[in-house]
Amino acid sequence: METAPKLTGDVKDLMLAEEGKRRIQWANQHMPVLQLIRKQFIKEQPLKGIRMSACLHVTSETANLAITLRDGGADVVVCASNPLSTQDDVAACLVKDYNIPTFAIKGEDNATYYAHINAALDHQPQITIDDGADLVTQLLTKRPDLLKNIIGGTEETTTGVIRLRAMAKDGTLKYPVIAVNDAMTKHMFDNRYGTGQSSIDGILRATNLLIAGLKFVVAGYGWCGKGVAMRAKGLGADVIVTEMNPVRALEAVMDGFRVMPMTEAAKIGDVFITVTGNKSILTHEHFEKMKDGAVISNSGHFNVEIDIPALEKLSSSKKPVRPFVEEYTTKDGRKIYLLGEGRLINLAAAEGHPAAVMDMSFANQSLASEYLVKNHAQLKNQVYSVPDAIDRQIAKLKLESMGVTLDKLTPDQEQYLASWSEGT
Ligand SMILES: NC(=O)c1ccc[n+]([C@@H]2O[C@H](COP(=O)([O-])OP(=O)(O)OC[C@H]3O[C@@H](n4cnc5c(N)ncnc54)[C@H](O)[C@@H]3O)[C@@H](O)[C@H]2O)c1
Repeated sequence: METAPKLTGDVKDLMLAEEGKRRIQWANQHMPVLQLIRKQFIKEQPLKGIRMSACLHVTSETANLAITLRDGGADVVVCASNPLSTQDDVAACLVKDYNIPTFAIKGEDNATYYAHINAALDHQPQITIDDGADLVTQLLTKRPDLLKNIIGGTEETTTGVIRLRAMAKDGTLKYPVIAVNDAMTKHMFDNRYGTGQSSIDGILRATNLLIAGLKFVVAGYGWCGKGVAMRAKGLGADVIVTEMNPVRALEAVMDGFRVMPMTEAAKIGDVFITVTGNKSILTHEHFEKMKDGAVISNSGHFNVEIDIPALEKLSSSKKPVRPFVEEYTTKDGRKIYLLGEGRLINLAAAEGHPAAVMDMSFANQSLASEYLVKNHAQLKNQVYSVPDAIDRQIAKLKLESMGVTLDKLTPDQEQYLASWSEGT
């Protein structure tokens, strides 16, 4: 096996480590499933000697994942999956207290962001962990020499899975990747309840708006959009949904929301949030129609959902008015407020998803990594689902940690469900 160079990391300030440690420990208390996996990993060492590079939002929850992988025997380095999502105290603590090289500084420019991804690749990973597929894209397009070491990868989010499936389709994907996002115990909880709550949290922390009574426009009624709409409604907003998928639009209507095209919603919305995973959702034609004082934000993976260059073009000036709030004055004198530079608002202005939900996402990441080590020889260069047995096991452990018990099928019921002849 090759030896990789010893890396130390690049963080904002190691003096922040103490605060980071307190927050990592706080998150750990709310991650009981990951704690159980960590105990098992310490005993069984399933990742012994495996070099792993993890490109994730560097938060207190991610720190607990990195520690779990390390305790399972892996040699882990971490880099940021978004220039604005890093918690600098957590990054400092990972380096100083846990000896996990971490390359992440909140607010880093694009060049530093990619330098950090490349530093994580210098680790010569055997397993990549991605959130948005930037690490695997960089590896495949700029560092193909590293492919010889790779046994597989995992992907955390919807956008990353979409990119990887496109790669697999045209033959660009050169190693197996497990779509952690597609596990039920991931997207049904993380994307819905995690993004739902934390995106509202980000908007509130940035603006301190009273949500009650506002016209709140949610673009995209997928797993994240459903969560955001549900929580905005709970705070008393009049929620409007925009969609392009008829089934999802119908679901939104039956969930009690008004559905209309963005060209209509743009005229009446007070607050906008895009969560489509698509590009150009809010564009020139929408900014032109918006009311004075409209607030626009994004919680989809990339900062392409809001066409910021178009907003710049339409504006005569801009200035920061609060942390994560930029006031654009349009040439016709209206103010439009852009939150968090159009990047994931829950991570830019708040703390990302609560630990209790990342518990399940990162339990999936840990067990998917173990699965890759055990099964990589049988896997092709494709995108794989998390095995159903892992999904069910995580749901079971989570319920146990919450003190919730289930009914068990009687032998008679099992037989009934397995039979086609009963029913009269
Ligand atoms: N903020 C976070 O922490 C966080 C967490 C998880 C996922 N994400 C990201 O959020 C995005 C959405 O994820 P998801 O799991 O909800 O995906 P999803 O596929 O379940 O939902 C996306 C929805 O957007 C709709 N859509 C696409 N183009 C549209 C358009 N032009 N107008 C209106 N609607 C459109 C689709 O029909 C779909 O219903 C992805 O980029 C994902 O990576 C962010």
